[in-house]
Amino acid sequence: MARKKIIAGNWKMNMTPSEAVELINTLKPLVATDEADVVFCVPAIDIIPALEAAKGSNIQIGAENMYFEEKGAFTGEISPAMLTDVGVKYVIIGHSERREYFAETDETVNKKVLKAFEHGITPIVCCGETLTQREQGVTIDFIRQQIKVAFLNVTADQAKTAVIAYEPIWAIGTGKTATSDQAEEVCAAIRACIAEVYDEATAEAIRIQYGGSVNASTAAELFAKPNIDGGLVGGAALKPDFGKIVNYK
Ligand code: 13P
Repeated sequence: MARKKIIAGNWKMNMTPSEAVELINTLKPLVATDEADVVFCVPAIDIIPALEAAKGSNIQIGAENMYFEEKGAFTGEISPAMLTDVGVKYVIIGHSERREYFAETDETVNKKVLKAFEHGITPIVCCGETLTQREQGVTIDFIRQQIKVAFLNVTADQAKTAVIAYEPIWAIGTGKTATSDQAEEVCAAIRACIAEVYDEATAEAIRIQYGGSVNASTAAELFAKPNIDGGLVGGAALKPDFGKIVNYK
């Protein structure tokens, strides 16, 4: 069965709650489609107003992060139950900005991925190399390590429902999109790695996004590649252009 595309926005630390409602109202008619899953991952404080604003549309609301404990003395963190209680179905885990600025590691990513599955939340698991790693020719080795650790103790049935976002760090927010061949090469390698760790059926089912300066003019070529099942979009997800990305065909 063909994989359904999944096109997600990562709002990062943008949009106040009232701006979030306004943006969703603007984008709602522009992102209407049955052909792809459309997810807006928004700042924690925007989740509830965003869910309200998106009601009755095809937009699903996701979180940008979550903690790996159930509850307790973890000042400032958001628990999985807090997300499921309001109807959140997706959470971005291990974005490179969280790894760089908030000390996330492959190990904490794995704990969060396991916790998300435990609560029935679909993780969007991020991976991606630096420019130095690409230049040194270690991209695939590095990504395979990130994926293998992120999926430690995750069952095949869980992995089948996961989303992986391949986001080369050098392409994030730089306007420098990876070429569709570069993106496809790594996404294919990620799928091969999943096949190795699990089996062909799991590798065929898992959805792999590309992220990094995706815009309305690059989306169609990227998403046409056999191993690219959609995108994780930063800057362009905050603009009406996101409608063009979602309806890229
Ligand atoms: P940009 O689309 O702004 O490059 O951001 C990509 C990203 O980090 C999405 O998670």
